[in-house]
Amino acid sequence: MSFRAHILGAAAGGGLPQWNCGCENCNLARAGKIPSQTQSSLAVTADGASWAVLNASPDIRHQLAQTPALHPTGLRDVPLASVLVTNGDIDHVAGLLTLREMQPFTLFATAGIHEVLSANPIFDALNSAVVLRETIALDTPFALTPTLTATLFAVPGKVPLYLEGEQVQTDLIGDQTVGVRLEGGGTTAYYIPGCALMNDDLRGRLDGADAVFFDGTLWRDDEMVRAGLGQKTGARMGHMSMSGEDGSIAAFVGMDIGRKIYVHMNNTNPVLRPGSPEHAEAGAAGWTIAQDGMEITL
Ligand code: MLT
Ligand code: MN
Ligand code: ZN
Repeated sequence: MSFRAHILGAAAGGGLPQWNCGCENCNLARAGKIPSQTQSSLAVTADGASWAVLNASPDIRHQLAQTPALHPTGLRDVPLASVLVTNGDIDHVAGLLTLREMQPFTLFATAGIHEVLSANPIFDALNSAVVLRETIALDTPFALTPTLTATLFAVPGKVPLYLEGEQVQTDLIGDQTVGVRLEGGGTTAYYIPGCALMNDDLRGRLDGADAVFFDGTLWRDDEMVRAGLGQKTGARMGHMSMSGEDGSIAAFVGMDIGRKIYVHMNNTNPVLRPGSPEHAEAGAAGWTIAQDGMEITL
């Protein structure tokens, strides 16, 4: 038994290329000069037979088709035990609509995230007779699969974009944005695709982990503004950047972590160009840049 994590989608919302984006990376991806990446999702298992999908991206149909380990093993048998969503963002929940078709699995989320899903009747496409919605309290371990234990914890973040009011707190600590601790196959790993900032609580949790899959949305906070794509900074979107004094590369220095893997990269992030200086800099700091189809075995 060993812990395996399969990157179903390495990109943030929009993917690479994003349908309406003419930025350098999106153009390179359309031209086949850098690898395209689908939207944010990770599949995990501790026994190879029973998997959980962490975040159901709008690309999940394609992602599952590309992943033999998750293909049907019988007429209506799939090795999928559960789906867990870490926030209510569209890139993490829209794929639930693809997972209809009367397929049993358990849908795990916090009370706050389940409320968002319940308020949208379109998600009733997941028939409650077969898809069990289980509410998970923070800091309370539960069986994600028969051989994987998960624990959800609050990380600084914000409500989904489509629920933002006039005032938005971008480092809210609550159950609207969570990280996941995974234990199984003798391994402890963390999955945190969205995080506004590193604090002592988070540092204390992550120190000593075998692997951390972490928010790699932007290289620099004003990257989208500089590219002429809008006014939003990473901070405004609830994502800490990789580089800079307040960035995640600096925040993880001195922590004892076996594997550090960036996930949820926005299409503007220069690390998505394999030959870029930023890709090399992240690598020199011990970070792996996730790519679709990559598998990490611990
Ligand atoms: C995010 O990660 O900030 C969101 O997925 C943005 C979005 O909803 O497009
Ligand atoms: Mn996102
Ligand atoms: Zn782009």
